[in-house]
Amino acid sequence: MAAASLFDLKDRAFIVTGAGRGIGAELAAGLAGAGASVAVAGRTAVDCETVAGDIAASGGRAIAVPFDARDEAQCAALIGRTNQAFGRLDGAVVNHGIGLHRDALETTRAEFAEMLDGNLTSYFVMCRELGRYWVTAGSPGSIVLMSSNASFLAYDELAAYGVSKAGVDQLCRQLAAEWAKHGIRVNAIGPGYMTASMKGIEGIYDAPEVKTKILPKIPAGRYGALRELLGATVYFLSDEAAYTTGQYLAIDGGYSLV
Ligand SMILES: NC(=O)c1ccc[n+]([C@@H]2O[C@H](COP(=O)([O-])OP(=O)(O)OC[C@H]3O[C@@H](n4cnc5c(N)ncnc54)[C@H](OP(=O)(O)O)[C@@H]3O)[C@@H](O)[C@H]2O)c1
Repeated sequence: MAAASLFDLKDRAFIVTGAGRGIGAELAAGLAGAGASVAVAGRTAVDCETVAGDIAASGGRAIAVPFDARDEAQCAALIGRTNQAFGRLDGAVVNHGIGLHRDALETTRAEFAEMLDGNLTSYFVMCRELGRYWVTAGSPGSIVLMSSNASFLAYDELAAYGVSKAGVDQLCRQLAAEWAKHGIRVNAIGPGYMTASMKGIEGIYDAPEVKTKILPKIPAGRYGALRELLGATVYFLSDEAAYTTGQYLAIDGGYSLV
């Protein structure tokens, strides 16, 4: 008899937030490719529909769910909609996010608060709703939070963004410790420089003069492909990680080591 595949996600259902583009879209497609059903959730409906449509066209199972993670009711509704569509919910990649490149001297209180709301408070609320759902259902799940190595390294002009991601790392540890008794696991992934940057700063790391400065600081000597975040995501969501919780995994080509 063939051994069950390690990291098998067949018949599992997951939510990916911020999945209309970038990292979230890549992970949603990757999870579907691993056999899972996926709720492609994000702010811009047409983006989510395109990603879900591409997954379906490749033989996968996906629904598009437009939602704004800053709205508590919409977080709860996303969970209900996913469960309604797939009859189960085994985990979530909480990945949505916004960026801000601004000198701290020029950053306003409103901008700082907006970063915390979009990147941290919304993560807490989404996780809390997932936790309530799984505790009530009596069947636990696994959460992957999208952090960044800016959560512990100081980059130029990333004070507000970096602080929001530092909060994500502590949220990961805190929820992991609190919820282990319910069987709920929470882990975090920290990308470094990737081939696709966030909305609003697309391509800024591709200019030759910028690359010349950054690439020598990355031991791997290159930016990461979005696909290179998939293996860790599958691992954290799978039963193979049943005893792994509260962990941050840097996926940055060694940037944070040197
Ligand atoms: N790319 C990188 O180099 C990098 C490196 C380290 C960490 N990260 C982290 O990885 C995650 C994804 O990054 P990315 O590069 O894929 O970013 P992206 O291309 O800018 O995509 C972010 C996605 O999140 C959605 N979103 C933002 N706020 C939302 C909200 N309140 N509710 C629902 N959806 C929301 C966006 O929707 P709209 O387009 O409709 O606004 C968009 O689809 C972020 O958490 C980011 O901080 C990225």
